[in-house]
Amino acid sequence: MLDEQRMQEQMLALGGTYIMNHAKRTLVIARRLAESEQLPYDEEVLVFSCFFHDISAFLPYRPEGSFDHAEESAKIMPALAKEYGIDESKTGAITEAVRYHDKRGKGTANETMLLRNADAIDYLGFMAVARDFSKQPIEMSRAVAALKKHRREFAALLELQSAVRMAEKRIQNLDLFLSEFEIESLGIY
Ligand SMILES: [Fe+2]
Ligand SMILES: [Fe+2]
Repeated sequence: MLDEQRMQEQMLALGGTYIMNHAKRTLVIARRLAESEQLPYDEEVLVFSCFFHDISAFLPYRPEGSFDHAEESAKIMPALAKEYGIDESKTGAITEAVRYHDKRGKGTANETMLLRNADAIDYLGFMAVARDFSKQPIEMSRAVAALKKHRREFAALLELQSAVRMAEKRIQNLDLFLSEFEIESLGIY
């Protein structure tokens, strides 16, 4: 049995509630997508990959310089999965899901598709506004630039029909925010 409490604590220690709760939301969304699409999945693979897919963004796992966080996180999975007592037969599926969580069309497993689509949904909508502004608390122009980039990139990752449906309102909200922000700020931000 996977120790979810321990996984939560590990993510909390690495990146605070920002990343721990992103991981938790990603898992909830992934489960909802699986239900809507009637997609079977391995519980341990989905839970573990949802929790740790962004782990390389945080010290001590974060590499020096620029890096592909999905690729670097994937490299950490075999040893980390072993620490949690996950059977080695599942390491390949976990690694694939993490490696391709931001790469459209890559990977074949249901867990890969579920993680990727769920992760994208959690970076759209008012949630995206909150996430980008909380990361750039005193630089609104940077937050808006990040928001526009994320709007483009994460909307492009949606593949499952149920994910497209779930994201529809979020994308509308995000677009509404961006246009109203431009008006209210008078372009000064
Ligand atoms: Fe990511
Ligand atoms: Fe993520």
